[in-house]
Amino acid sequence: MRTQVAIIGAGPSGLLLGQLLIRDGISNVILERRSAAYVLGRVRAGIIETGTAALLDEAGAGARMHREGLIHDGIEISFGGEHHRMDFRRLVGKSVIVYGQSEITRDLMERRAACGAETLYEVEDVALHDVAGAQPKVRFRQDGVAREIDCEFIAGCDGSHGVSRQSIPAAVLRSYERIYPFGWLGVLVERPPVSPELIYAHHERGFALCSMRSPTRSRLYVQCRLEDQVSDWPDERFYEELRLRLAPGAAARVHPGPSLEKSITPLRGCVAEPMRYGSLMLAGDAAHVVPPTGAKGLNLAASDVHYLWQAFAGYFRNGSRAGLEAYSERALRRVWKAERFSWWMTNTLHRFPESSGFDRMAQRAELEYLASSTAAQTALAENYVGLPL
Ligand code: APR
Ligand code: PHB
Repeated sequence: MRTQVAIIGAGPSGLLLGQLLIRDGISNVILERRSAAYVLGRVRAGIIETGTAALLDEAGAGARMHREGLIHDGIEISFGGEHHRMDFRRLVGKSVIVYGQSEITRDLMERRAACGAETLYEVEDVALHDVAGAQPKVRFRQDGVAREIDCEFIAGCDGSHGVSRQSIPAAVLRSYERIYPFGWLGVLVERPPVSPELIYAHHERGFALCSMRSPTRSRLYVQCRLEDQVSDWPDERFYEELRLRLAPGAAARVHPGPSLEKSITPLRGCVAEPMRYGSLMLAGDAAHVVPPTGAKGLNLAASDVHYLWQAFAGYFRNGSRAGLEAYSERALRRVWKAERFSWWMTNTLHRFPESSGFDRMAQRAELEYLASSTAAQTALAENYVGLPL
């Protein structure tokens, strides 16, 4: 089997890249180790920056997002029993779209199927070969049969536990990591949102977030201990804790319902550099992870894909290698800005178990500064809606 770009992973990065390449007549095959149903079943944040929405439009997969997505012009930051609105429209003239990540994945999968492009699901033992040179190969097993793809490039879009990053020699790869001493317990529930906009709440007892998937479905989170198990958190305990961490008005609008999904996510940030090694290019979670506090994961994946698509288009259209050579540096510059923002949001809003009295007073001052300063709010807003590509 031959293709121009072999894409590893059918998450948002791989599917979006595949669609943009098809648009430009660049052939590609996607290899995914799970089934399509499994990929669609993962529950993840769904805050879409304008730049990400534009890229989905370019890929021909934005129509349902524009129809069903909710446009949000701001968020609420809650602390000390009060809410403070960050008015994105007024501050930076932009907004975000609330639309679930699995819906985006579904829209991209449908577009791909409509184009007749190849995605091989449930493949095993994917291994990358000769990535340092110009004729890389991907070997894998499908239904127990060994197969091979010859290609010009491999796009490693296989998330944080994939094989692509591991195919870069250890002597070349630099990794940076920040592990936070807590997790988020998330609940999906068929109940209307607590508030029309997202509430990010800082409280002595820990952080809480009221998000949503639609006008009838909420996604709610509380900060929990790393050692907690989902079984430690029956629904009643979850709702009680959530109410305690919100300002009274919002707490009164929490309408408990049976959880459709409940899971714990540890929080961490990490970046692997470089994002290119020979013919292998990493994109999305394969190269970096952000804590969910700023909802940057999907948007960073999209910005990588944007730079990578431009690099491939330049090469296959004009034979120019300039975009390929610059890819890692261009992508990483934006990655680190989003890492910084997610780290700042996480530090500002959570309760750190080891924090001193000094740390807590400084954190409180940071929040009060944010609540009172247009400059501080503008900095939050321009990062939240997405820095330019
Ligand atoms: N072979 C083939 N496929 C693999 C392999 C492998 N060895 N390892 C992992 N995969 C697949 C996973 O099953 C998954 O479907 O790669 C895909 C990677 O998808 P994601 O983890 O969703 O990563 P990405 O597409 O970069 O999307 C980034 O997703 O994790 C969130 O917060 C993150 O929103 C961000 C977005
Ligand atoms: C979510 O809706 O799941 C969500 C929203 C915003 C975040 C994180 C998660 O910052």
